[in-house]
Amino acid sequence: MTHQATQPWWKEGVIYQIYPRSFMDSTGDGIGDLEGIRQRLPHLVDLGVDAIWISPIFPSPMKDAGYDVADYCDIDPLFGSLEDFERLSAAVKDAGLKLLLDFVPSHSSDQHPWFLEARQSRDADKRDWYIWRDPLPDGSPPTNWISEFAGSTWTFHPETGQYYLHVFLPEQPALNWRNPELRAAMYDVMRFWFDRGVDGFRVDALENLMPNPDLGDNPPNPDWVESMGPARSHLPVNIKHQPEILAAGRDMRSVANEYDPERLLVGEIYGTTEQLMKYYGENHDAFQLPFNFLLIEAVWQAEPLAGMIRAYEAALPEGAWPNWVLGNHDRPRIASRIGAGRARLAAMLLLTLRGTPTMYQGDELGMENVPIPPEAVQDPWERNVPGQGLGRDPVRTPIAWETGPGAGFTTGTPWLPIDPRPEVAVETQQADPHSMLAFHKALLALRKREKALTLGDLTGVDATGEVLHYRRTHQGRTLAVALNLGETAAPCPGTGDCLISTHGTTTGDLAPGEGRVLAQ
Ligand code: NOJ
Repeated sequence: MTHQATQPWWKEGVIYQIYPRSFMDSTGDGIGDLEGIRQRLPHLVDLGVDAIWISPIFPSPMKDAGYDVADYCDIDPLFGSLEDFERLSAAVKDAGLKLLLDFVPSHSSDQHPWFLEARQSRDADKRDWYIWRDPLPDGSPPTNWISEFAGSTWTFHPETGQYYLHVFLPEQPALNWRNPELRAAMYDVMRFWFDRGVDGFRVDALENLMPNPDLGDNPPNPDWVESMGPARSHLPVNIKHQPEILAAGRDMRSVANEYDPERLLVGEIYGTTEQLMKYYGENHDAFQLPFNFLLIEAVWQAEPLAGMIRAYEAALPEGAWPNWVLGNHDRPRIASRIGAGRARLAAMLLLTLRGTPTMYQGDELGMENVPIPPEAVQDPWERNVPGQGLGRDPVRTPIAWETGPGAGFTTGTPWLPIDPRPEVAVETQQADPHSMLAFHKALLALRKREKALTLGDLTGVDATGEVLHYRRTHQGRTLAVALNLGETAAPCPGTGDCLISTHGTTTGDLAPGEGRVLAQ
């Protein structure tokens, strides 16, 4: 009996999210593009990540920064062309990296030809590709549901006398995944990109794939406070995590399995750990990696973190591969959430836990949220609910490649302001062996060298005072990780050679905010 000689790449790999509008602009229009990504690939190779996931690049009216797709099988001119995509895809392969795209199945743009046709009449061919309901007798919307970006999830279409559903903006009508033709069309979209060499997808907003209006109103949320935003004022029980999503997930996986090697499906799912685990599929036949966002919501103290890690590991179905995410284009930057002084600690945690890590672009530079003046706001969420900190522009600002005007990102006017501090620029950090960038490179290189950090078991997850510690073991080699989350120096649990430290100190007490990896 031979057992599988190699693991799929994504078990040992690190995924790096590219937010294409803000990575690199090659045309001078102030917005990043595919050719820009191609030009900057050396940064990623040098950094040592294994795969890139690019947020949506498809034709879009850009009401939600591309998450409103008007054609699933083309490239928006803002980002380039299909030829540019082919060139980028080839360059990514040449660089030894994998390429993931963003698949946005739960809604299209209201400018998608499917929706334009569906809204023609009640018996239009594609009417049922979207979710329509009659008004209540008093003319009001069919349910009390509130959209993620505020307002009702229902918009009335006077020409045909019905409401259509949208979990996000009115310009993002919900696709009806209960319609088999729609499902088939979406599976063809996946094949379109797989046939072009794409290694997988990050699948958007999965918990919203099959809202069920027939279940009626959502109950009020007794724990709601205004800062949660309007959508959280009700418990979205009839919108999210409907059980039928799993069958669609299995179908998506079957499409991914038509290819050799099988393609990767990463699911974007916000929910409880129990809900999340279902997305692996009962027989591991759905998503290989349902995104685990626990670190995004975490309390950064040793004991709660240890408990959270243990609980996640314990909840994993047998044989399911874990994953961890520190940040993305929707949530405040890690360096702003926990303080710039703690960002290295967070990176060490992300890159030494068991499971596939996903990094968000710019976190390798310690980028922080950038304040956005009201006149520069782009995000529809901030426009709809201003001043409550819900807007996502501050985490989406362009990378500063160099210091000076345009920051090497653009020769034009950037679509969002760029952090002007020289210390966050790539060129500054490249020249500094103690920079955040240098630290990330060293950590990623260590991860590559030490199988214990990728394939190793995870044991002894615990807190001693404010020091979080655990061990990773593979084929007799054990590494110990110790992270001091406290405000005072603390003894370093465990002995052994220090392989890397956030602070560069290799012996003695751990300074506040210091983390070390030790070989035992
Ligand atoms: C999740 C995406 O990450 C977010 O940016 C987007 O607004 C919603 N899904 C809707 O597609």
